[in-house]
Amino acid sequence: KSKSKSTWVCTECGYTDGQWWGYCRECSNVNTMKEFTESDNGGKTSGFQVSERIVKSWLPKGSGDAFPMRLTDVNRGVNQSEWRFPLSGPFGNEVSRVLGGGLVPGSLVLIGGDPGVGKSTLMLQIAAIIADGKEIGKPAPVLYVSGEESVEQIGNRADRMEISTEELFLYSSTDVEDILQKAHLLSPRAIIIDSIQTVHLMGVTGSAGGIYQIKECTAALLRFAKKTNIPVFLIGHVTKSGDIAGPRALEHIVDAVLYMEGEQYSSHRLLRAFKNRFGSTDELGVFEMSPCGLKAVTNPSEIFLSEERSDSEFLAGLAIAVIMDGSRTFVIEIQALCAAGSSLSRQVNGVQAGRADMIISVLMKQAGLKLQSNAIFLNVVSGLTLTETAGDLAVAAAICSSFLEFPIPNNVAFIGEIGLGGELRMVPKMEKRVSTVAKLGYKKCVVPISAAEKSLRGLDFGDIEILGCNNLKEVINTVF
Ligand code: TYD
Ligand code: MG
Repeated sequence: KSKSKSTWVCTECGYTDGQWWGYCRECSNVNTMKEFTESDNGGKTSGFQVSERIVKSWLPKGSGDAFPMRLTDVNRGVNQSEWRFPLSGPFGNEVSRVLGGGLVPGSLVLIGGDPGVGKSTLMLQIAAIIADGKEIGKPAPVLYVSGEESVEQIGNRADRMEISTEELFLYSSTDVEDILQKAHLLSPRAIIIDSIQTVHLMGVTGSAGGIYQIKECTAALLRFAKKTNIPVFLIGHVTKSGDIAGPRALEHIVDAVLYMEGEQYSSHRLLRAFKNRFGSTDELGVFEMSPCGLKAVTNPSEIFLSEERSDSEFLAGLAIAVIMDGSRTFVIEIQALCAAGSSLSRQVNGVQAGRADMIISVLMKQAGLKLQSNAIFLNVVSGLTLTETAGDLAVAAAICSSFLEFPIPNNVAFIGEIGLGGELRMVPKMEKRVSTVAKLGYKKCVVPISAAEKSLRGLDFGDIEILGCNNLKEVINTVF
């Protein structure tokens, strides 16, 4: 004589309801509510009891034993808890920086990115570095689990990348319970799950990749990481628009989220911390995809420039901007084309449309450029989007250059924000920007007069000539 209770669970979003409705009251999908029966006789009739059993097994044992701790007692152990696993080599250093200075024991890290961007490649290399443990002089097992590829396929890939680490263990499985059991036996230094969309937890509703599965699997892996102190990396496929809801829903569960980005036709890959409980989210790692894996780009300032132009072929309409991303400085090329004629269209690529409109209006009103009867096209070479006002001056310079048909020599860089009165304004980190272009061999740098007189004053940047200007008119008189 067993009582049983029914629950309806949405197979799309995992919403649980005690009552049947014709649709899901959470995500409004129709026909996605499935009935589950929970009985109190301990039998395995319901999926929930199975999942409860697994999930509970990764809960810290005897959570009732813990007691609130005095802050001063907690901090006595600070050196131990702040210890991070160092990643060696140029590639390792680059990853390490994005992680906030090394791998934190027991952390759960999500690596997101478009399919094909290189997440598996990145993690295989990281796995090898952790397994080698060069920095601490001791190899130890690292477990790379793939639900997408067979061990032979991963082996082939590792071979092509010239990875031959003794302690790297490959395993092909999609069952989280199985994975964690094997991990328990192997007791690895780190675990990589490739990818969270392909694994499932028995007894949890929905197929692998469904939001409910993704959340439960991540929760189980989180408990595993915290309990064993073994760091776990999750790979998640996210499309640019973020329309695969799964991995994005994990952002608040995991300790750190790193996104890997890359343009389709460029070999450069960026690794960006989007969330990090153990460090800043300003850091940016720059890599290059080669036939044998990812290589760190240690001096990346120029990666966004198009091919080098020789001095004889200056083009009108090009200007160099200096932008910051995290603690990194990049020089980028702004292109403008002003064409007098019947069509007055404006096409803007890589600059916020409102900002571009403002700069164009200021050029007309405050600098007297007769742009009224021109079609104007703007483009940021390399597919970047300018998010900083520091690029304003270069945008204006590119437009002037095209309008006046006067090529700007390619050893001139522009830094500064433009105000509504046509005045130039300071932007943060002027010294760093100027020193970057100076190191790259630029000969002139146009900056707001306030920067030239204050933050840059008395600093030695070598040969570069710093041209401080009050407003756009002065810039035009100085450069053109
Ligand atoms: P992959 O790591 O499989 O991407 P993801 O896991 O994010 O889906 O890498 C995909 C691309 O990287 C693939 O098109 C081939 C390229 N690649 C290289 O250029 N060099 C290499 O050494 C490797 C392993 C891959
Ligand atoms: Mg992959």
